[in-house]
Amino acid sequence: MLANFNNASLRNGHMAARDTSQIPIPKSPIEQIIGQDEAIRIAKIVSKQKRHLLLVGPPGTGKSMIAQAVASLIPKPTQEISVLHNFERPERPIIEVRVASEIKNERLAKALGRVVSASEIPLHVAEKLGFRCRRCGAFSFADSAACPKCGADKYRKEESPFDDLIANFDTVVQEDRVQTTHMVNGREQVVVFERAGRDKARVLSQQELQKLQRFERTQPRKVIVPITRSTFVQATGASETELLGDVRHDPYGGHEELGTQPYTRIVPGAVHEAHEGVLFIDELSSIGYLQRFLLTAMQEKKYPIAGRNASSTGASVKVDSVPCDFMLIGAVNINDLAGLLPPLRSRILGNGYEVLVSTHMPDTDGNRKQMLQFISQEIRKDGRIPHASIESANLIIEEAARRARSIDNVSGLTLRLRGISGIIKLAGDMASSEGSKLIEPKHVKEALVRGKSVEEQLGDKYENWWKAGMSDFGASKKKGRDSEVG
Ligand SMILES: Nc1ncnc2c1ncn2[C@@H]1O[C@H](COP(=O)(O)OP(=O)(O)O)[C@@H](O)[C@H]1O
Ligand SMILES: [Mg+2]
Repeated sequence: MLANFNNASLRNGHMAARDTSQIPIPKSPIEQIIGQDEAIRIAKIVSKQKRHLLLVGPPGTGKSMIAQAVASLIPKPTQEISVLHNFERPERPIIEVRVASEIKNERLAKALGRVVSASEIPLHVAEKLGFRCRRCGAFSFADSAACPKCGADKYRKEESPFDDLIANFDTVVQEDRVQTTHMVNGREQVVVFERAGRDKARVLSQQELQKLQRFERTQPRKVIVPITRSTFVQATGASETELLGDVRHDPYGGHEELGTQPYTRIVPGAVHEAHEGVLFIDELSSIGYLQRFLLTAMQEKKYPIAGRNASSTGASVKVDSVPCDFMLIGAVNINDLAGLLPPLRSRILGNGYEVLVSTHMPDTDGNRKQMLQFISQEIRKDGRIPHASIESANLIIEEAARRARSIDNVSGLTLRLRGISGIIKLAGDMASSEGSKLIEPKHVKEALVRGKSVEEQLGDKYENWWKAGMSDFGASKKKGRDSEVG
């Protein structure tokens, strides 16, 4: 017979807890998963070897948790994916993959030079960069077009008597970078001043400028998959766009001045965002025909991004060979296995694993401790409910045992833990609405009654009527109404 966790039995182990606040919970996501030892063993292999994984089992047993744990075990991404403007053919933007060191070099180049205050630079330069009024000589922020002192337009070169009548666009000057010469050790040297914010300028030597320009010469870019990103991407498979990306519509049709360049309108799909990471698809069979595209992406490790709406200006735009080297983790219910595309399934098996998650675990002292950890975890995750006394926790564990019997017809502890989590939260709500410091047994008992599904409630309420059978249904209904009144 298995002991409940009274204080005596807890003192035997590392736990001498009176309530769940004293039970330590592991930090790492993988150790927070209880009972799924086989799945965890495979998950560790999968993350180390970069394999695919199909998790099969009923809802609420930890499949999403396992997928997230795999993502937490794999190394951080090392690549950044950008689309570059293609000057010759704007509707065919070019893909570029950069590693961390290249990104860092660019950032360093952009940070070259020395930043000084606007008042420290030569006056004529300060005027050109918009820090100083040409008329009165007062200093002001570069982003205010009119001099706050005399009201002159700072960016107008010459004053003309017709200023008020003719908007003379030719004379409007605002320079971002001004080159000038400077005497250093008796030799004339080129110095460049660049506006760096509203009241600061960056001073660059000629060599520094050349370094910077090397990066500026590369085509304009849009980073579509940044280097700092999550290794966990979940796709619902609600649409092709979500999974495979898209090109946004431009109402001005890419018009040279009014429109936006196609490369700025590229939107990556989940397959691309999961590059170097985990792509998790819950209810994999429900994405239907999209499985075919997924299969192609897994085979090629590249997938083009194209406009998917034929009536949109995005439809003429396409980016080839966008990397999408991800690990697929799919979750599926046993009953839905038939909805998986056979080639997709064999692709997963050919380079990965299929795992049946457990619905229950043996009722041992060790596993009861795991349940205790689970209860403590759920309470902490919720954050709005009090901890549970050990007596209440034991009642919850008893419910887990009851459910193993009633749902799966086994003796053990259920691992359909989402349901148990629901009971914990309900009991917590009851305790907190009463202002109780802990979840006490009465709250758990109440939660067990309240937490029943409508079907279960129907069963309890009408079971006798159903047993009575249809023939005397009318009579029992009448009796029921009578007793309600009485
Ligand atoms: N094995 C488990 N260990 C710890 N908590 C679990 C476990 N299984 C389920 N849970 C709890 O139930 C919730 C739902 O689990 P989830 O991983 O989404 O299940 P599934 O994806 O199988 O439907 C989790 O957020 C967690 O609170
Ligand atoms: Mg889930």
